[in-house]
Amino acid sequence: MTMRGEHHTAIAHAVAVLRAGGLVAFPTETVYGLGADAESPRAVRKIFAAKGRPPAHPLIVHIADAQQLDAWAAHVPDAARRLAAQCWPGPLTMVLQRSSRVPDEVTGGLPTVGLRVPSHPLALELLRAFGGGIAAPSANRFGAVSPTTAAHVRADLGDVVDVILDGGACEVGLESTIVDLSRDDDPVLLRAGGIDRELLAAILGRDVPLAGDDALASPGRLPSHYAPRAPVELVAPDDVAAAIAAHAGKRIGVLRQGGHGDAPRWREEGDRVEVELGDPSAAAHDLYATLRELDARGCAVIIATLPSEHGLGLAIADRLRKAAAPRGA
Ligand code: TXA
Ligand code: MG
Repeated sequence: MTMRGEHHTAIAHAVAVLRAGGLVAFPTETVYGLGADAESPRAVRKIFAAKGRPPAHPLIVHIADAQQLDAWAAHVPDAARRLAAQCWPGPLTMVLQRSSRVPDEVTGGLPTVGLRVPSHPLALELLRAFGGGIAAPSANRFGAVSPTTAAHVRADLGDVVDVILDGGACEVGLESTIVDLSRDDDPVLLRAGGIDRELLAAILGRDVPLAGDDALASPGRLPSHYAPRAPVELVAPDDVAAAIAAHAGKRIGVLRQGGHGDAPRWREEGDRVEVELGDPSAAAHDLYATLRELDARGCAVIIATLPSEHGLGLAIADRLRKAAAPRGA
């Protein structure tokens, strides 16, 4: 069979699995998703079981194009249509009032639903061939680092998914930006991500404030999330040497920001593993794989610096803070 033929067979098989209520891991431009038929409560419950995710935490419904917005949302404000026109397909999730099509299992009983059109060609092909919405969180065990390659998915969830579609390394590398537009004239940023807050403000013609602590509780907003096995300690660049000294005798990982170019630069010396991430889009692309690699190289602690918090730097800093938050918080 030709490569092209195999590819079509893989999509057709994945669609059959979704229709039968199974789980399909698939690539998106942000991270890999763990997908199920969004209209099947039974299939959606399997996602929570596979991830070990508490049921009250809502899932994003992935759709093939912006025309499907009206099928999944009860009310689509003008601002949402403008954002969809400019940012989809792409790393933006919009929270809107949900339509009757959305089961309670997807939203944890909330009156709203998160919707997104991903831009990875395999994700779009899967969505078009399936025809419906695919509910999908990141394809990792609850609280762990999100997967940016098919191998990461296999390592975390290989035993519980029915199919893993391999679309290579995710281009963006961090989860989608989430904007709550469910209260018409009052957009709120629930999660920084692949689409800059600055771009949202430009499209909407107004600043989009970050959600305060009173915003809807959601797993992406728990203090501890996206954590590698090794504890992460955030320090200012000038304090790296002191932090290394404080952990003398351990195998220490040092993760630095602010490099140039597009590849992480690794240096291993004795019991120290140092890595410097590249420019902001390279840093976003490589962050999760780098945290996994520091674990794989046996680091007992990861000392990390933060990037400056504009553009993608806002999302990178957010994920590093969550990785560094006290466990179980
Ligand atoms: O980039 C992404 O968004 C990836 C890929 C697979 O699309 N998905 C992802 O899903 O990161 P997950 O489940 O790991 O994170 C989804 C976030 C959670 O923080 C969840 O609480 C929030 O979206 N969310 C979903 N529906 C919501 C709603 N109705 N209201 C508020 N937050 C919602
Ligand atoms: Mg996640």
